[in-house]
Amino acid sequence: MTAMLCLKGQCGRNMQPENNNQKQVHLSQRADSLDASREHQRIRLEAVSKHWGDTTAVDQISFDVTPGEFVILLGPSGCGKSTTLRMVAGLEQASAGQIHIGERNVTHLPPGDRGISMVFQTYALFPHLSVADNIVFGLRSRKVPKAERRERLARVAQLVDLEAYLERKPAQLSGGQRQRVALARAIISEHPICLMDEPLSNLDARLRGEMRREIKALQQRLGMTVIYVTHDQVEAMSMGDRVILMQKGRIVQDGTPAELYDRPATSFVAGFIGSPAMNLVKLAAAADGAVIEGEPRCNVAPHAAKGHWLGVRPEDIRLLSPDATGVPAEVVDAEYLGADTIVQVRVGEQQLRVRFDGKPNVVAVAECRLQWRCQAAHFFAADDGQRLTIVGHELVPDSEARVSPNIARIDSPGVNR
Ligand SMILES: Nc1ncnc2c1ncn2[C@@H]1O[C@H](COP(=O)(O)OP(=O)(O)O)[C@@H](O)[C@H]1O
Ligand SMILES: [Mg+2]
Repeated sequence: MTAMLCLKGQCGRNMQPENNNQKQVHLSQRADSLDASREHQRIRLEAVSKHWGDTTAVDQISFDVTPGEFVILLGPSGCGKSTTLRMVAGLEQASAGQIHIGERNVTHLPPGDRGISMVFQTYALFPHLSVADNIVFGLRSRKVPKAERRERLARVAQLVDLEAYLERKPAQLSGGQRQRVALARAIISEHPICLMDEPLSNLDARLRGEMRREIKALQQRLGMTVIYVTHDQVEAMSMGDRVILMQKGRIVQDGTPAELYDRPATSFVAGFIGSPAMNLVKLAAAADGAVIEGEPRCNVAPHAAKGHWLGVRPEDIRLLSPDATGVPAEVVDAEYLGADTIVQVRVGEQQLRVRFDGKPNVVAVAECRLQWRCQAAHFFAADDGQRLTIVGHELVPDSEARVSPNIARIDSPGVNR
């Protein structure tokens, strides 16, 4: 009943309601047969730049979005995400480069001719209009007949669970409900491409989690092509089929969430993805290898790694008692989070975070040892932060290496009170 919203022209608007199972079979069959006809949803950016006087907001970025894909533009504030999205929407003119939607070069087309809808961080609802009138506002300006407007409104209101609120004014709604009105307005337009700019940042944490799942489910049900801007890596990792991470107007990595997590292309990506982020420590030269700066007792990498950065994720580090092998460290602090604990440790002059399943028995200043598997060690160049191909040392003795890390971690709470 809902698929026609995105697959314009492929299914009639007068379809009768059907149950969910029927709908899924129906949708998957249709997805196969429509792959070719969805090419008009493909988005392609070629060396697109945006300059404001001396400021370069976006610097020659290129990427492709496949029809039906959910792509995240991720990065810190000011890195050019919104500008990129607004250029795709036609709300900003590109200073250079080309933007294609399907076969059409839309670089110089006005927003209305690009066949897209957009959801902003501020919901941009009209306060004096009811929820229903807000949702159908665009249809009314496009002179869609009243009967059809009413029919589409009923369908979309049901989809986003707003049927009971259609007569209310935006001020009488919660943040989540207002956000759903903004979403409904985008969906009712039946454009197969939806661009979203930080649509959840005004919501509290619990609601954000709910809306993340709702938006993702909706996108999949409708087969929409989505570019979604956020600075929140959790949002990016949990929603995106693909994540494009930007820094200072450029793309630093474009890949699946797992690719960004498992093989960060630069130290910036390593520090941005993951919560808490990957530990990054400076390496110094030792007689026969490289050690963490300030802690000369344990080699962690071959000599070639000296002067560069070593990255290890908090969840890849085992916290062991001081009689174990490994990197000598001292507990600084422990933050108990329920399911796990983030233990802050000092190695030489540098601090690292270790994720511990459950609640370890540790106190400040206690001595401990750290271990990680050599596959868990990432290396990044000191000058430009680029990923280096260096294999770390195995800190785990052979006999222990075969123990599953989780079991080993539960077995080894480390330091006694
Ligand atoms: N209208 C504008 N005039 C001048 N500079 C702008 C304008 N819009 C954005 N910028 C600048 O472009 C850069 C990127 O902005 P933006 O795309 O909004 O970043 P993001 O969405 O990633 O936070 C920032 O340095 C910002 O100050
Ligand atoms: Mg922005």
